[in-house]
Amino acid sequence: MTKKLYLETFGCQMNVLDSDLIASRMVGAGYVLEEDRDKADVVLFNTCSVRDQAENRALSHAGNMVHLKRRRPDVVVGIVGCMAQNKQKEIFDQLPHVQLVVGPRKMGAIPRLVSEIQATGQRRMAIEETDEEFIDGSEAVQTRSTQFQSYIKAMEGCDLSCTYCIVPTTRGKEVSRSPEVIVDEVRRLADQGTVEITLLGQTVNSYGKGRKPYVDLGGLLRMVHEVDGIRRIRFITSHPSFVRPSLVEAMRDLPKVCKYLHIPAQSGSNRILKAMRRGYTQEKYRGIVDTLRENVPGIEIASDWIVGFPGETEEDFDATVDLMSEVRFQNSYVFRYSPRPGTVAIPMGDDVSEEEKKRRNQILLDLQGEIASEKNQTRIGTIEEILVEGPSKRNPLRQTGRTDTHQAVHFEAERDLRGKFVKVKIVDSTALSFRGELV
Ligand code: SAH
Ligand code: SF4
Ligand code: F3S
Repeated sequence: MTKKLYLETFGCQMNVLDSDLIASRMVGAGYVLEEDRDKADVVLFNTCSVRDQAENRALSHAGNMVHLKRRRPDVVVGIVGCMAQNKQKEIFDQLPHVQLVVGPRKMGAIPRLVSEIQATGQRRMAIEETDEEFIDGSEAVQTRSTQFQSYIKAMEGCDLSCTYCIVPTTRGKEVSRSPEVIVDEVRRLADQGTVEITLLGQTVNSYGKGRKPYVDLGGLLRMVHEVDGIRRIRFITSHPSFVRPSLVEAMRDLPKVCKYLHIPAQSGSNRILKAMRRGYTQEKYRGIVDTLRENVPGIEIASDWIVGFPGETEEDFDATVDLMSEVRFQNSYVFRYSPRPGTVAIPMGDDVSEEEKKRRNQILLDLQGEIASEKNQTRIGTIEEILVEGPSKRNPLRQTGRTDTHQAVHFEAERDLRGKFVKVKIVDSTALSFRGELV
């Protein structure tokens, strides 16, 4: 009988892509995907460690598998991805029914390790950092969740050392894939109907570091731009320190490159930015945004923010409010500081109370909401080209697409237009989306 795999994903876009790659390898090993975990032979959780909450959710889902394991002892339960790398053996100690622990850089070994566990009943752990089984994904396309939009790994890992962040520990040192391999993959995806690609990396705009010959992200975008059939190119996440002229020029000159840049500021206070070791000041950050806006007409900027970093005073927070309200971002993702054991920030304590973090969080969300509402209103009456992502679950007539600048547009249409580019007239807006009419 065919074996069944249940795979659940937590965390960022890179984990979504990694899960597609795991699924693809497992399908290659004879598995089919199963949505009901009670029926699965192998249950895998692809996990995230970035905040406490992310780890707790994955731990509690994996913890619940103890019941399934009691009923069906042959089921293999595994924890893979960032939390596997972060906690390693601790997971085995905490969850006796978990038999497999695999870090992000060893995902390619999953099918082999699963069959070893099935054959021997012994636990397996693969966590060392190595490129040996670094999944390049070139063969892994049949299981992609969407065909017309595809993620592609450009680089993985992070060589920076923001003091709050666990990602360099979980994802390891930066490795960039070769531009030729990436372009080949883009071509193959385009042949299979992909029209939009998103290049992924923890700091995607440091792409190319250490490679010879050196091709940076601007250069990679130019190469990918040549591929017929691809109509939109996105990339996430960028770091302010690597917004180089070649990238600005690529965004300006290449029509397929979406005019949307996600560059997390994290804070508006220079004191906090320094304690975070972000490598820039708020003045420098503003300068980067100015350069982008002068050179790339129509560009929209998004940011991440952390509130309640150790030692963040009311004055520091005010500086963040100032930066947010003056730069006027299209989008902001706000997070409450979560201490990550093993990071440099741990000895700094966690002195901002949970209540105060919540308050600051809400202030930023409200402010961002106001800014986005105002900005979006100015777009009413304009015509936008959108890529349709599909009908809503509840009402098949109501469909959603996205603009070049990644904003959602809801509209009505008789026919399922998923994967098609259509033009809509914007007739209404909120802070988060538009309503449009087909033209
Ligand atoms: N590689 C990306 C983002 C990684 S994590 C980058 O550097 O831009 C995504 C976001 O989570 C970060 O931008 C940050 O805002 C937030 N984050 C990271 N560590 C955190 C922590 N310990 N507590 C709260 N938020 C955190
Ligand atoms: Fe974490 Fe900083 Fe690296 Fe982003 S740049 S992954 S926040 S260490
Ligand atoms: Fe989480 Fe790892 Fe992504 S820690 S945010 S899944 S890189």
